[in-house]
Amino acid sequence: MKIAFAKPQIPTEGAVIVGVLEGKVLTPTAQQIDSQAGGALVRAINASKFEGKKDQTLTVLAPAGLELNRVVLLGLGKADGIDAAVAQSLGGTAVGQVLNSGDTAAAMALDWVEGIKIDAAAFAANVAFGARLKSYRFDKYFTKEKKEDKPSLKKLTVLTPENGAAKSTFQPLDKIADGVFLTRDLVSEPANIIHPESLAEECKKLADLGLEVEVLGEKQMKKLGMGALLGVGQGSVRESHLVIMRWNGAKDADSAPLALIGKGVCFDTGGISIKPAAGMEDMKWDMAGAGAVIGAMKALAGRGAKANVIGVVGLVENMPSGNAQRPGDVVTSMSGQTIEVINTDAEGRLVLADALWYVKERFKPTAMIDLATLTGAIIVALGNEHAGLFSNNDELSDKITAAGKGAGEPVWRLPMGEAYDQQIKSDIADMKNVGGPPGGSITAAQFLKRFVGDTAWAHIDIAGMAWSKKDTATCPKGASAFGVRLLDRLVAENYEEK
Ligand code: BES
Ligand code: MN
Ligand code: ZN
Repeated sequence: MKIAFAKPQIPTEGAVIVGVLEGKVLTPTAQQIDSQAGGALVRAINASKFEGKKDQTLTVLAPAGLELNRVVLLGLGKADGIDAAVAQSLGGTAVGQVLNSGDTAAAMALDWVEGIKIDAAAFAANVAFGARLKSYRFDKYFTKEKKEDKPSLKKLTVLTPENGAAKSTFQPLDKIADGVFLTRDLVSEPANIIHPESLAEECKKLADLGLEVEVLGEKQMKKLGMGALLGVGQGSVRESHLVIMRWNGAKDADSAPLALIGKGVCFDTGGISIKPAAGMEDMKWDMAGAGAVIGAMKALAGRGAKANVIGVVGLVENMPSGNAQRPGDVVTSMSGQTIEVINTDAEGRLVLADALWYVKERFKPTAMIDLATLTGAIIVALGNEHAGLFSNNDELSDKITAAGKGAGEPVWRLPMGEAYDQQIKSDIADMKNVGGPPGGSITAAQFLKRFVGDTAWAHIDIAGMAWSKKDTATCPKGASAFGVRLLDRLVAENYEEK
């Protein structure tokens, strides 16, 4: 779908989307179209339950007096409730009504009205951003899709008097959408296509954007002593990799970076502690943390962020085999700390243990943030509405919470504390890799904390957020790319030179 910005004019063909405020208050363009159609819009509203509440929609087909195929009425809610994130969700909802309508062109004629918290250009740009995010589709494996099932919309024109400013505000957002789409692609791909070797290759392609990309293989990781990460991958025929992506956007390329670290378990069978068959296919998306880091790096480079940021992903496949690690094995991590692997299905923390330690030692980052589909327990705690946040640093935690809220990717902080360490005491090693079920996401975070030293660190457990079983305003069901927009915003708000 192509997106363009133009000065307001009443479109004469295809679809038009107009805004209605809560309480059935038509915005000026909606009023204009309504009077051209002899009051058909108001009559349609009064004949339905449409009140103009945020994200409500009502489509009026072929209204007499107009050459338009359809007018989509979009509820805006209250004007003072509209910020950037809401504008994005409005754009997504609106375009969702026309993507597969049969129309190939649509005009988005949402007037800016008094009270909206962002200016007219930002409003239009964020509406366009939301629309683009919603238009994503992972359809490469359909070979027989019928024409009527394919999206019809080819072009969306966003109308605003500030079309020039809107276009330039949209430019960086468009780059963020590129990052989101890359993440969604990588996470959607099955594990026979995206595995530790091919995912490392995908990372290398980002060098085209000016990122420095370095790939470590098993030999190098063995030399570094990464026994925890390597133990997870040892049952797979695919070689494990650690990929380091560097974006040096700050004036001083040597100033300490922010580090983003992702769990990249390209498939998690559970290993010898094998998972039940039902739903195991979901574990192709156990690399969503790595996917988010890769997409965020693409977004940052794409829009030329003025900050030094490192992205590191630990890529492994957790398989049962004659060479797989066994429950009870003891591995030595790069930090020197030993781990008794009680359950081979608690593998993400083993991968992150070595990745975090490596990043801390090599880059001495100002802060480290890891993203991981780490525990099923976080879904029990927070459902599919918030990711879990854990941190050793209140300031960093507050920044992440604010960025998540602003980007429409909410996180909720959970407690940590020494008392939980009891659960991961081992009889024969420095720690074991699982505690009991109580507070399972917290004991996982306590485990990670042992590999970050004094560095400011945060862990975001995205197990409940990486994949959506239903369509949302800005995302069709499937891979959400949760984290990309949060991380980009975190950098923009806190780490960039002005
Ligand atoms: N990748 C899973 C966590 C997960 C579960 C993500 C469901 C998304 C949906 C992780 O590696 C795992 O298996 N965790 C175990 C830990 C347990 C063995 C302590 C879990 O949550 O059951
Ligand atoms: Mn697992
Ligand atoms: Zn896993």
